Amino acid sequence: MLALLLACAAPSDDTGLTVVSADPSEIPLPGISADWTTRFNAGDARFASAFRESQGLGPAYIRTACSSCHNEDARGPGAQTRMVVTEDDGITPSADQSALPYGNLVRPYVAGGANEGVTAPDDVANLLVTNRIGPAVFGRGYIDAIDDAEIERMEADEAEAGIVSGRINRVTWDAAVPSDPRFYVYAPGDVNLIGRFGMKASIPTLDRFVAGALQGDISITTPLLPDELPNPDDLSDDDFPGIDTDTDAVYELSDYVRLLDIPHRDSPDNNGPVLFAAVGCADCHVPTMHTRADYPIPELADIDAPIYSDLLLHDRGAAMADGIEQGDASGREWRTAPLIGLRFLGSYMHDGRATTLAQAIDTHSGDDSESAFSVANFYALSADDQQALLDWLQTL
Ligand code: HEC
Ligand code: HEC
Repeated sequence: MLALLLACAAPSDDTGLTVVSADPSEIPLPGISADWTTRFNAGDARFASAFRESQGLGPAYIRTACSSCHNEDARGPGAQTRMVVTEDDGITPSADQSALPYGNLVRPYVAGGANEGVTAPDDVANLLVTNRIGPAVFGRGYIDAIDDAEIERMEADEAEAGIVSGRINRVTWDAAVPSDPRFYVYAPGDVNLIGRFGMKASIPTLDRFVAGALQGDISITTPLLPDELPNPDDLSDDDFPGIDTDTDAVYELSDYVRLLDIPHRDSPDNNGPVLFAAVGCADCHVPTMHTRADYPIPELADIDAPIYSDLLLHDRGAAMADGIEQGDASGREWRTAPLIGLRFLGSYMHDGRATTLAQAIDTHSGDDSESAFSVANFYALSADDQQALLDWLQTL
């Protein structure tokens, strides 16, 4: 899928021809070794290929391939649907989730079972059902490489400045085996780890994230997460007996995501970055974070990574709440979304509720939202400055 051609939607001129340009979204980090390039290409193929029942697909799953939800490494079209029983306020999760015996993730398809998959029950009061569209995965190696100390420093700086109050999602190493030893040193039961992946920053590493995606989205078990998730057929295995795939498959997929570059920008900056900082966007969407000096991929080590996120949780208020608690994150907290490759996304926010960048900014408002001040500042800009900021965001 490398060097795919992307047909832009808009006609280039009145001849009706469309502009076709090289798609920079699936390109590996520049300068990586031949060995890493080979690895990238193998992971690329695996990312796009569908798992079959003979390989362990099932019992209940959402999609058969990573690329169904991360098409061309960007957002969607596939999504997850989550559900939670709430209190009468409609967002606070109820202590009693017994109406959802198979968990909060809708997994509609089945392989090998007689019943339908895990769907949202229609006879449960106060059931909040929300979507998460598969986010872009390019540039995630930069996020993996960010130094723990840098994230801790960001949390402390925000507490001291008192404008926004991001906090780290502290999590446990919950996999059955240790983390990928090339990159991390976590072992089963380790606590107090910094969560950085997922929309609620509840996952500490790329290998653990990928194992979770295989198990939850595709129902492929791995040595990291060896158990099939609960399902209406009460099956503990599928057509492929035992653990479905090996650790190296997890590492290969993680390496592919790890090695994807941040889409190269060729537009010069206008005064967007200045305005972005002035109105307070940069308080959460921190333009760069520094990476570990000992990260094993030299291109990612000891650099200022342009991820536009503090990787911290923020309270986005009731209007954005989904009632899902993950790690230490509450039903109304979200990780600052990294602003990477925005120009390749057709919608924004966890559920894609915004289809323009102006709408995306507007969803940051609300009396009970930590980001409301920046929206007020944005609307106080002149019309020209508002447009300049939107134009610049569109170049990311
Ligand atoms: C059914 C749709 C779906 C499938 C299939 C899927 N994903 Fe995802 N992916 C998502 C969603 C939704 C999220 C955000 C999840 C969350 O935070 O709870 C996500 C998040 C991610 C992230 C974290 C990005 C970040 O910014 O933290 C990575 C990495 C990722 N997926 C990789 C994969 C890989 C590799 C596969 C294949 C093994 C895969 N995904 C399969 C929907 C999907
Ligand atoms: C208090 C922290 C905070 C501030 C301030 C803030 N944001 Fe965000 N932003 C977030 C969080 C958290 C999300 C993810 C929310 C979600 O997915 O529902 C997000 C999401 C976004 C997205 C969507 C990205 C995607 O992949 O869908 C855009 C675009 C964005 N912010 C731009 C801005 C701009 C522009 C400003 C300034 C006007 C701003 N943000 C101010 C925390 C903040």
